[in-house]
Amino acid sequence: MKVLVIGNGGREHALAWKLAQSPRVQMVFVAPGNGGTARDPALRNVPITDLAALADFAQAEKIALTVVGPEAPLAAGVVDLFRSRGLRIFGPTQAAAQLESSKAFAKEFMGRHGIPTAAHATFEDAGQAHAYVDVQGAPIVIKADGLAAGKGVVVAMTLQEAHAAIDQTLPPGQQGGRVVIEEFMQGEEASFIVASDGRHVVALATSQDHKRLNDGDQGPNTGGMGAYSPAPVVTPEVHARAMRDIIAPTIAGMAEEGHPFTGFLYAGLMIDDQGQPKTVEFNARLGDPEAQVLLMRLKSDLVDLLWHATEGTLDQVDLQWDRQVALGVVMAAQGYPVQPRKGDPISGLPSSSKSAPQSSSAYGEVQVFHAGTQTGPQGEVLTSGGRVLCVTALGDSVRMAQQRAYEALEPIQFAGAQWRRDIGHRAVKPR
Ligand code: AMP
Ligand code: GLY
Repeated sequence: MKVLVIGNGGREHALAWKLAQSPRVQMVFVAPGNGGTARDPALRNVPITDLAALADFAQAEKIALTVVGPEAPLAAGVVDLFRSRGLRIFGPTQAAAQLESSKAFAKEFMGRHGIPTAAHATFEDAGQAHAYVDVQGAPIVIKADGLAAGKGVVVAMTLQEAHAAIDQTLPPGQQGGRVVIEEFMQGEEASFIVASDGRHVVALATSQDHKRLNDGDQGPNTGGMGAYSPAPVVTPEVHARAMRDIIAPTIAGMAEEGHPFTGFLYAGLMIDDQGQPKTVEFNARLGDPEAQVLLMRLKSDLVDLLWHATEGTLDQVDLQWDRQVALGVVMAAQGYPVQPRKGDPISGLPSSSKSAPQSSSAYGEVQVFHAGTQTGPQGEVLTSGGRVLCVTALGDSVRMAQQRAYEALEPIQFAGAQWRRDIGHRAVKPR
């Protein structure tokens, strides 16, 4: 069959790479794809981003299955559109994607269904928001309502930072904005991602990403600077609680409210020192770079999973995972996350072909997934976005995976490249 992946990031490169390994797949299209999907002979980029044009393409090419990577097309209703044309697509409808696209919707939903999360208040009026933080005190968390790709959140350690964040979100004189102000939660974060067909749920392996730009979890929030799987903080007990207290009531609640959630559901967990998980946020998609490490460990056929998920038969799926740890290090462009510079040539990339090893030291156990890259006029690879590459490796332990990923990263160069040297640090620490 022919399949289509919508998106152009590292997550989509990993999805396409994994789909191409399925014996059921004859061709994987990526729309629009990036410089990495362009280089892989098993994949074909399609320069389309308009949703109606994507549906036209899927009809014309007889695409059997489409999977959506990023949140923006989900929030714009790509799943509703494809379904209205009789096309098979895996992802949530526009209404269900509100779990991510509207923080206010998500918080109210969690309130209605008793799903553990931080106490919060929503404001449209800046004056009231300022007065509220004065009463609550710091630390406190300020979030813009709407999609902000993980960047619309300020964890304010002081009242001054909190007021500044409100000014940013609700500029004086501007109408129509909303700010969500949340209780600060203490604990360790993990990414808890499941696939759902609207009724049944299959949990993926656990993972953890590193949201801050700099080593030691310092600096500004980003989309994620690295990830690894599994996440030791998600013990079997935490896993069971997350399924029972967060995932199950969310899937049941969305169905009850008439918006069954079909797609990857990502609950960002904050796990306190008692092992009680609370929901930091929902995403209506796979994480990036969590997808890269998860898909490296997935042994089962991804097409089977997505097929059952679009048939409503996920209860028949049992996923197999590699016992090894996967760890991915993001290389980001100069200026990321504020204003990434584009157009820098990248050297030292492993040569690419469908099944060839990407590293001589570890056959098939290192993959360099591309994100913000594009092919230049001479066929060279250029940076074209904030997060440029995710160098991902498998290893018998976190340390082994870490060592392999950093070894594979070493020869890769571009001007101003930034990456963290400590991806996986929480998992190598003795617990
Ligand atoms: P979000 O986009 O909601 O996931 O927020 C981005 C990051 O901000 C999260 O991954 C957390 O590190 C942090 N954060 C968000 N909400 C809270 C909260 N209520 N308490 C503590 N940290 C938070
Ligand atoms: N890595 C976090 C996210 O995808 O939102």
